[in-house]
Amino acid sequence: MERQLVVETKSGRYSILIRPSLLDDCSELQAVVATQTAFIISNETISPLYLAKIQSLLKRPAKFFILPDGEKYKNITYFNKIISQMLENTLGRDSILIALGGGVVGDLTGFVAACYQRGIPFIQIPTTLLAQVDASVGGKTAINHDLGKNMIGAFHQPSLVIIDPLCLTTLPDREFRSGLSEVIKYGLILDHDFYVWIKQNLQEILHKNTETLSKMIYRCCQLKAMVVKEDEKEQGIRALLNLGHTFAHAIEAETRYSQFLHGEAVSIGLYAAMRLSESLGFMAASDTQELRQLLTQCQLPTEIPSSLNIQNLLGHMKRDKKNALGQIRFIVNKAKGNACILPVNDEKLIAKSFPIFDTTQ
Ligand code: NAD
Ligand code: GLY
Repeated sequence: MERQLVVETKSGRYSILIRPSLLDDCSELQAVVATQTAFIISNETISPLYLAKIQSLLKRPAKFFILPDGEKYKNITYFNKIISQMLENTLGRDSILIALGGGVVGDLTGFVAACYQRGIPFIQIPTTLLAQVDASVGGKTAINHDLGKNMIGAFHQPSLVIIDPLCLTTLPDREFRSGLSEVIKYGLILDHDFYVWIKQNLQEILHKNTETLSKMIYRCCQLKAMVVKEDEKEQGIRALLNLGHTFAHAIEAETRYSQFLHGEAVSIGLYAAMRLSESLGFMAASDTQELRQLLTQCQLPTEIPSSLNIQNLLGHMKRDKKNALGQIRFIVNKAKGNACILPVNDEKLIAKSFPIFDTTQ
């Protein structure tokens, strides 16, 4: 079944197309590329699976740049290499970039598009669950700096987002489950009915039933489009999409991005944020237990290893991008399907929110 959404922002409007087998047949791609010169950016894992399909969809030869696989290549060196190759190919301002891959490829391609000759359009073809439900929509583009993740970037909206849920059949299972924490996040902050739907349809989701996945991706994109329409540059409501991320970013930084996938760290973060919300009196213990059960059923982690130093984690949190006036600001659950941003000064309370893996269990 065909599903389509329109994202409206101050800097433009674009469609998100969600359809199984879209990478085999997508006239909308040719229409958007029309008279422009397409240049595809992908990585060494994804290109053998999907590059030929995109080439044939375009119905004309398109040059491409293949990145090595990994977050560590979302950096200034590869930004520069791509720009060099585009210049060597004499690509002008009538060019359009196509990001074929997960959030790493999407963020880097988007940032190149935002900068190349002061900005050219780009198309997102996300191939991971995380990128299909989150990273490809909303125009956040970035590369990492040695001193911090996503520290160099721009808001630059894509011209089209093409989502083929069948891409998820080749995605490693751990990556798929990791993306589920971002799905659960939408239910927690914006739509309790969706949260209930996820619980009720969990087996179909975990078995990658195509229709169930399409519905799920559609609802996530719909919720994200709504948020981005209201607050494109994260001056307000968009910050809610960071539920659990203050905890997650601290865990990722402290473990040097080597122990947990981003969505796994977000899973621990969602649970920690719910514990904090419970301590603050917003949520009931049963809500916290219910969330823990759902994350565990998705085989996602909910606890940090006891070897992690809580003071170091607090140190990372004090450098979070959302902080203001020297206070750590958390997204907390205020009620079912509702969240808010709140400064929390009580370090003991924050430390207590980290669920620690108990080896005696
Ligand atoms: P990723 O891009 O590293 O992809 C995960 C792994 O899956 C990689 O090894 C990749 O090669 C492989 N892969 C991708 N699609 C595949 C497929 N269909 N079949 C087989 N293998 C496939 O990771 P991710 O989780 O998609 O993205 C993480 C990145 O996204 C981070 O850099 C994060 O900062 C960024 N991000 C951006 C936003 C945003 O709004 N811009 C939001 C969330 C995350
Ligand atoms: N992934 C959070 C955002 O796009 O704002």
